[in-house]
Amino acid sequence: MPTNRTFTIIKPDAVLDGFTGSMIQQIEDAGFRIVAIKKIKLSPEEAGRFYAVHAARPFFQSLCDHMSSNHIIPMVLEKENAVEDFRTLIGATNPEQAAEGTVRKRFARSIESNAIHGSDSDENAAIESAFFFTDRELNP
Ligand code: CMP
Repeated sequence: MPTNRTFTIIKPDAVLDGFTGSMIQQIEDAGFRIVAIKKIKLSPEEAGRFYAVHAARPFFQSLCDHMSSNHIIPMVLEKENAVEDFRTLIGATNPEQAAEGTVRKRFARSIESNAIHGSDSDENAAIESAFFFTDRELNP
């Protein structure tokens, strides 16, 4: 059975572009409740650990450089069927292929600077949430 939580990051491009408020508004309007939130700047090494699953991909170094280039906003979100519904809300990884009205279609610059991350499974949502938040922060 799917859990009711997912994990997301508003990425440096979207923070720098001043889209944080509009993106959170769209997320809350879609029925997601913010369980945990912070603003943080990763080191390149931390970004590499977070995206370790992509270590063999040609874009890995560039992805880590981008994700550690400025502040990001990780969040844990709650809603029924959270993982799947959130991925529908944010749209395809490549904003050129994202559906009209999705978060990435509205706010992303490119496939790498694609404004927002969303976990792809309940298991990864739990792992990624624990990367940024303590047990106490996840169970307020
Ligand atoms: P995200 O959902 O955070 O998961 C992995 C990230 O890698 C993805 O969003 C993009 O930012 C990035 N990414 C995926 N595919 C490519 C690609 N072909 N070129 C550059 N970056 C990519």
